[in-house]
Amino acid sequence: MTQRKILVTSALPYANGEIHLGHIMEAIQTDIWVRLQKMLGHDCVYVCADDAHGTAIMLSAEAQGITPQQLIDAMNSKHRQDYADFQIGIDNFHSTHSEENRRLSESIYKALDDNGHIARRVIKQLFDPEKKLFLADRYVVGTCPNPACRTPGQYGDNCEACGWTYSPADLIEPRSTISGATPIEKESEHYFFTLPVFKDMLRQWTTSGTLQEPVVNKLKEWLDDELQEWDISRDAPYFGFEIPGTTGKYFYVWVDAPIGYMASFENYCARSDYRFQDYWQQDSEAELYHFIGKDIINFHTLFWPAMLSSAGYRTPTAVFAHGFLTVDGTKMSKSRGTFVNARTYLEHLDPEYLRYYLAAKLSSGVDDLDLNLEDFAQRVNADLVGKVVNIASRCAGFIGKGFDGRLAAQLNAPELLEQMAQASGEIARHYEARDYGKAVRLIAALADKANQYINEKEPWVIAKQDRQSPELQAVCSTGINAFRLLICYLKPVLPAMAAQAEAFLAIEPLRWQDSQSLLTDHRIERFTPLMTRVEMDKVNAMITATREEYERRQQASPEAVEADEFAAEIEFDDFAKVDLRVARISSAERVEGADKLLKLQLDLGQDGRGNPIQRTVFSGIKSAYSPEQLTGKLTVVVANLKPRKMKFGLSEGMILAAGPGGKDIWLIEPHSGAQPGLRIT
Ligand code: 2FM
Ligand code: ZN
Repeated sequence: MTQRKILVTSALPYANGEIHLGHIMEAIQTDIWVRLQKMLGHDCVYVCADDAHGTAIMLSAEAQGITPQQLIDAMNSKHRQDYADFQIGIDNFHSTHSEENRRLSESIYKALDDNGHIARRVIKQLFDPEKKLFLADRYVVGTCPNPACRTPGQYGDNCEACGWTYSPADLIEPRSTISGATPIEKESEHYFFTLPVFKDMLRQWTTSGTLQEPVVNKLKEWLDDELQEWDISRDAPYFGFEIPGTTGKYFYVWVDAPIGYMASFENYCARSDYRFQDYWQQDSEAELYHFIGKDIINFHTLFWPAMLSSAGYRTPTAVFAHGFLTVDGTKMSKSRGTFVNARTYLEHLDPEYLRYYLAAKLSSGVDDLDLNLEDFAQRVNADLVGKVVNIASRCAGFIGKGFDGRLAAQLNAPELLEQMAQASGEIARHYEARDYGKAVRLIAALADKANQYINEKEPWVIAKQDRQSPELQAVCSTGINAFRLLICYLKPVLPAMAAQAEAFLAIEPLRWQDSQSLLTDHRIERFTPLMTRVEMDKVNAMITATREEYERRQQASPEAVEADEFAAEIEFDDFAKVDLRVARISSAERVEGADKLLKLQLDLGQDGRGNPIQRTVFSGIKSAYSPEQLTGKLTVVVANLKPRKMKFGLSEGMILAAGPGGKDIWLIEPHSGAQPGLRIT
């Protein structure tokens, strides 16, 4: 076998947030692949780092009253620990805010500039006059400029309500989300990477077998369109590296983030025998793979290879994109408790449960992967505890008691073990192709066969007659050998359980080729249970802990909570129970003694006999509307809401409005022409 030299990365987590199960899924996918390569005897190095730059990190440090350096240092050790505790075998975890990365970023930039691949021009941008800060799109909020839409509360350059895209400067009544000030337009010189120059190079690279099919198709669309030059500079104040030869201009975080892969490897070289150039020079024979989420494909398959090629470095051998992790069928959500941090998971559950479950569901595609919590518990219990560990626990006791821990010299079912050994190539191929689900299914099928064998041989029946019968020893030794092969195949997924099993079997760390040999006439150790069942109570406790943490934070600072979370999915019938009607506000008045309420008279059309239907509703919108603004307006009312007795009278329904409160409340208003009483469906 020729030994491959492989360098592998997973995406660099931002240094201002906790590691959550989404990060962990990617790390597990990467780690399984790396562990397989190592078991196969290849020279495979896995590097990662914190992505430590950018406005968000600067603001986050400021909000906490610490320096960015303090923030990223604290996070770096937390992140390392989270990955380590999930058994992610990262060989070097570094930071993009490092001397290696500064040097590499500067030198790559200089190479691009020398090659004429950096353009400079003045652009106009929104600027926060209070914070003295240029505002990235996501820090600007205002009303959608589409005349047919005018939805307030839109962030950045596109409207969530109507889908329009525009420049944030076109928003009506724009505000800085950082200070609340009205932004002004200000000019500044920016630096651009001339991406269009690389169109041919990218067409070639993206179609040379480096990428997955759906990714190639997406890129083809982008490459057929007009490519844009890429804005790589940000003005001070910014937390990052200053661009050489400028004052107050910094590399945009996405410039030095992927260079962070190189920096982490260089840092590793300094404390090992690896040589940086062997892996990064243009004609390097080493393989280079990036595992990433599908949301950052453009950075890794357009800007990154183009920059590398301009600067005279090799390009990646392949980029492996994966889908998002969902929990119980929907996007991870803090309010529902499914946006689980790595640490919270670890406080409740064994990391190898998750490693196994994700492996069983991972494929080489870019589809999302669902962590269904019931299925998670059920599957781990059925497969790992019920099938794999069970084999050892059914056989080990008899070997210990009857034979002083000694395995037989002759085994009993060569065909079973032969078949298991023969599966090694196919299992390795599935792992190599990142079709872990296929590998795990094959292994589970082999475990079924081994259990079947033990069921047929009934060692407990033999033991009743003779605890030292040679047949008992042969049957149980065969079982233990089957277990050893299963552990060998599962080792990339379950390194900790494999280590425990190796100790029990009293063997050296398993390599892939060990699947081709057997363990006979060998003394094993006493068996101790390798894994306990997943308890649903603990799963639920993890979800509750996550939700409670979110609620605590929300109370402490409601602003900090994300706005885009959806409530749990409902059936259509649930929705149909709510009778929503168009209503006209026929009058509105202030309520004596009530700070927040307005009393509204609503007109809901006529009943069958032509009599007007009127409702009185109390609504907490006084902070945002005067009675005069509301009179005569159409709105939407929940018409079948049980009347509620309030201090000031009976409220016979509820009108619909959006917004966090205070001045930011917006009444829902149908387009003109809708008639009072119309049902909304
Ligand atoms: O999307 C993210 O979380 C980025 N921090 C990933 C960076 S990957 C690499 F390019 F550094
Ligand atoms: Zn709009």
